[in-house]
Amino acid sequence: MAEEVMIKADNLVKIYKTEDIEVMALQGLDLTVETGELLAIIGNSGSGKSTFLNMIGGLDKPTAGRLTVAGNDLFKLNEKELVAYKRDTVGFVWQNNARNLLPYLTALDNIMMPMSLQKQENKKEKALELLDTVGLMHRKDSRLSQLSGGEQQRIAIAIALANSPKLLLADEPTGSVDRKTADYIFDIFKRLNREKGQTILIVTHDVTLSKMVRRVVAIRDGKISSERILKEQYADIATNTVDWSTEDTQEEYAIIDRVGRVQLPHDLLDELSLDSNKVRVTMENGRIVIEKPADA
Ligand SMILES: Nc1ncnc2c1ncn2[C@@H]1O[C@H](COP(=O)(O)OP(=O)(O)O)[C@@H](O)[C@H]1O
Ligand SMILES: [Mg+2]
Repeated sequence: MAEEVMIKADNLVKIYKTEDIEVMALQGLDLTVETGELLAIIGNSGSGKSTFLNMIGGLDKPTAGRLTVAGNDLFKLNEKELVAYKRDTVGFVWQNNARNLLPYLTALDNIMMPMSLQKQENKKEKALELLDTVGLMHRKDSRLSQLSGGEQQRIAIAIALANSPKLLLADEPTGSVDRKTADYIFDIFKRLNREKGQTILIVTHDVTLSKMVRRVVAIRDGKISSERILKEQYADIATNTVDWSTEDTQEEYAIIDRVGRVQLPHDLLDELSLDSNKVRVTMENGRIVIEKPADA
C-alpha cells in the first residue's frame, strides 16, 4: 500500500443484531483518506458515523469488508497487536469526554497518564507542549473537576495526542460546547493539521465548521453518498475573511460506488416528483440524464 494512504475502507458492512431486530449500520462503505488530510464526516443521526469511527479506532469489528489504517490490516491484528494499535496509532476524542479523563488528577497528570504506557523520553516536556497546543498552560496544576466543559474537552484533545498518534479521531468533539468554544476547538484541529501535518477525522453536526474543511464526506444509510470539496478561492483559510456560515465555499459531488450506484440528492429527487420507482437513464451529449418516464 502506498505510503500516502492513511485509511482505506473497502466495502465495510456492519450489522447489529439484537434479540428481534437487525440494524444494518454500514452498507458497503468505501473511503480513502490520505495522510495529512483533515476530513470531516457529516450525516444524520443514525447514519453510521460513530460505527465507522469506532471501527477505525479498533473498538469494533465489521460484519464484512476490509479496513487498512496506517498500513495495518485492522481485522487481521491479534489481541496484542490491536492493543498496541489503539495505544500508538490512533488517538480518540469523544463528545462526552468523561471516558478518558480522571477528575481528581491535574490537567498535566491527565495528559501524562497515557504516556506511562509507552516508552517515551521527556514525558513532562511533551505534556507541557501539548498543554500549550490546546492553550491551557495556565491550568496545568488545576484538577480536571475545576475546569469548564470546554477546557476539559481541550484536555481530552491533548490526551488523545499524548502518544503522538498517526491518526486523530474525533466524534462530535464540539457537540456539547457553545459556539465560541466550538470555534476555538476547531481552530486547534486546523492548526494541528496545518502546522504538524496531523491526519484528522472529525465527525461533526456543525455546518459552519464543516464548510471550512477542504473535504467533507456525507454518510447516508451507512454509505458515503456525497463529498464536498473546498473551492480553490477558499483554500487559503488562514488569511481570508470569509463568512463561513453563509457562503457556499464548497463544490458538491455525488459518489458512484464500485458497481455504478449513485445516491441522488433528496431535493433533486423531490423536484422530479416520481410516482413510481422507475426512471429513464439516457446519454445526451456526454451527460447522463435521469428523467421521469413518459406516461404509458
Ligand atoms: N451497539 C449497537 N447495537 C445495536 N444497534 C446499534 C448499536 N450501535 C449503533 N446501532 C445502530 O446503528 C445505526 C448507526 O448508528 P451510529 O453509528 O451510532 O450512527 P451515528 O453516529 O451516525 O448517529 C443506528 O441505527 C443505531 O441505532
Ligand atoms: Mg454518533
